[in-house]
Amino acid sequence: MSTTTQQPIYDPAKTYDDNFDQGPFGAFHNPEAYQNKGEPQYRFLGYPVYEPFGMPAGPLLNSKYVNAALDKGFDVVCYKTQRSSTFGCNEFPNVLYVDVDGDLTLEKASKPLVGKTQASTDGSPLTITNSFGNPSRGPEFWVDDLKKAVAHAGKGQLVMMSVVGTIKPGFSHDDYYDDFAATAKLAVDAGVKAIELNLSCPNVANEGILCYTPNAVREICRRTKEAVGDIPVVAKVGYFSKDQEDLLTKVVTEMGPYVAAISAINTIPAPVVDANGEQALPGQNRLSSGMCGASIKWAGLDMVKRLSALRKKLSLNYEIIGVGGVMSVADYRDYRQAGADAVQSATGAMWNPELAIEIKASV
Ligand SMILES: Cc1cc2nc3c(=O)[nH]c(=O)nc-3n(C[C@H](O)[C@H](O)[C@H](O)COP(=O)(O)O)c2cc1C
Repeated sequence: MSTTTQQPIYDPAKTYDDNFDQGPFGAFHNPEAYQNKGEPQYRFLGYPVYEPFGMPAGPLLNSKYVNAALDKGFDVVCYKTQRSSTFGCNEFPNVLYVDVDGDLTLEKASKPLVGKTQASTDGSPLTITNSFGNPSRGPEFWVDDLKKAVAHAGKGQLVMMSVVGTIKPGFSHDDYYDDFAATAKLAVDAGVKAIELNLSCPNVANEGILCYTPNAVREICRRTKEAVGDIPVVAKVGYFSKDQEDLLTKVVTEMGPYVAAISAINTIPAPVVDANGEQALPGQNRLSSGMCGASIKWAGLDMVKRLSALRKKLSLNYEIIGVGGVMSVADYRDYRQAGADAVQSATGAMWNPELAIEIKASV
């Protein structure tokens, strides 16, 4: 897919707040509702869905975005990660275009990549970097707003809620883990049918990427499951290198009893510089940010295959959400074939809001 086919639903040239208040844009602005036909043919997390395809936590900033995604035929959608209190967004800009030649291997991601405010016009596959830091207007805003999104879901559609803990002054590790559970409980009380734990954000300076710490993963998953009862809990993880296979096994073993699904992957962190070689995104700890789009598909697919093999080896029964570089109908099929029970697209769907309709038309 070329970088310029459609106006994106989120405008990288505008601030996060402007996107939040004025968006979504392009084909997500007042869309006509797509009509699913017949009965839902699939089940995901125990719920009937028309197509196990949707959008992950991130591009859907609030109910206006979630509702537009539902209207555009995305049946498994996740509200952007929220917190138990207000939290500011990283400094603008938050999204840059990045040219990557082929796959973004871990080797390539270890060296600086050049971030630009303009997309390439040569039709090369789209990769971006994003860095928000999980901003939140707090439960005062999102609890009621989430209710609007949940109410908008039609038959055969599922709205999930992504949450993250917030380190507050004086917090112990236990307090931090409990904050995930308390935030999840707020979302469940608002009526959401599935919780996703964001254990993999690379863009928050002092919270770290949790999914590589088995004890933290176990405690967060366990406490959240206790807090939300029958509501399914999904753990969102980042990429584990081949050298980290033992760690992946340990992490999956620890979360296994508590999660109904594992979502993989979040973005791949990489240093991003401008044309002069200077840090591209302003502010402390922002040299590195999360890369997403076409060039990380290899990593998402690899994780789906490994999680599928581990599920069998460990006799667990979690479902798998495949995420990363899904830009086309063929990418969706590749993920399903690799063992993904559901598939979600962030970057691809942002620049091609018709993707769910194209997938449904292709069956
Ligand atoms: C604009 C944007 C915002 C994102 N925000 C979040 C977030 O709040 N929580 C989260 O778990 N992942 C977030 N992500 C990561 C996506 O959910 C996804 O894991 C990643 O982008 C890889 O998928 P893709 O290649 O389809 O973009 C965000 C991604 C984008 C593009």
